[in-house]
Amino acid sequence: MKLATDYLGLHLRTPLIIGASPCCDDLDLCKKLQDAGAGALVMHSLFEEQIELEENARFRLLDGIAESHPEATGYFPNYDDYALAPDLYVRQVARLKHALHIPVIASLNGHRPGGWIDQARQLEAAGADALELNLYSLATDPDMDSDDVESDLLYVVSQVVETTAIPVSVKISPWHTAPAHFIRQLELRGARGTVLFNRFYQPDFDIEDLEVRPQLRLSDSSELLLRLRWLSIVSPHSGLSLAASGGVHTPEDLIKTILAGAHATQVVSTVLRHGPAAVTSLLSGLETWMEEHEYTSVAEMRGALNLARCPNPTAHERANYLHVLQSWKV
Ligand SMILES: Cc1cc2nc3c(=O)[nH]c(=O)nc-3n(C[C@H](O)[C@H](O)[C@H](O)COP(=O)(O)O)c2cc1C
Repeated sequence: MKLATDYLGLHLRTPLIIGASPCCDDLDLCKKLQDAGAGALVMHSLFEEQIELEENARFRLLDGIAESHPEATGYFPNYDDYALAPDLYVRQVARLKHALHIPVIASLNGHRPGGWIDQARQLEAAGADALELNLYSLATDPDMDSDDVESDLLYVVSQVVETTAIPVSVKISPWHTAPAHFIRQLELRGARGTVLFNRFYQPDFDIEDLEVRPQLRLSDSSELLLRLRWLSIVSPHSGLSLAASGGVHTPEDLIKTILAGAHATQVVSTVLRHGPAAVTSLLSGLETWMEEHEYTSVAEMRGALNLARCPNPTAHERANYLHVLQSWKV
């Protein structure tokens, strides 16, 4: 019982969530992850572009789109390249709900207001316990300022929240100018939680073929530090459920996310590398540490090192930046 946590108003038996990934496509794997102790499962995303492609196909307009919106058929994957079409995705929610007893969180991925948001209703009807909205967006238009970008994103959040009665958490980028303010705005728009952070897949250059190549690298623990800092800063004053995502590989990583203030911690890379054994090892490491440090619940340890409670709060702030730079001696 001591590992139980509340996240988005859901009661999770452990704070470890399988983050959005292809794991949800394999029912047997999901059952094994559940047996290993996962507290919930997030499905991979259904994308704005994918939903809109289907909508357009339904109205037999697909040919016309190539001319009016080249990005819809040019840069983005073809309709058949997506893992699950929207109707199959909805069916997969229902299958997972039938097969699992842990909460199933569906994921929508988009950044512009539009008809794709209605899909939230179908996901709720199929039994999703919550919805994770991934606001993956890159502000590449020099004419669009940060206020415009953020007001679009916040409008999407309020639309999704209005469309569905299930709790909505928002997975955000670490690259907002004022992340703490943006997270407060999410709360004001009715979101119940936020996931820190999206991990940006950065294309590399091939200097022989002179090409830009997309690539997917799994994470390592060094990516966790950015998450720890912002969880620590936000957790003292946020009313949202906070989830860490990115760079959790060892029991120590998991423990740190909770000490920083996370209600739940998502893992993907380590599960893709090691399967359900990763979940067992993370949770048993957490339990051992709690026993050794005489914590009787996850709630008791949550936030013990956040900005409000840690013994040296300047370690999270600018003062520490000065100190660290000046500590290097040549
Ligand atoms: C193969 C793969 C597929 C992913 N698909 C999604 C997705 O559909 N939606 C999403 O929000 N995140 C997706 N992610 C990102 C993960 O949910 C997670 O945020 C990221 O991998 C960082 O966590 P990690 O360090 O534990 O891997 C994917 C990651 C991987 C590796």
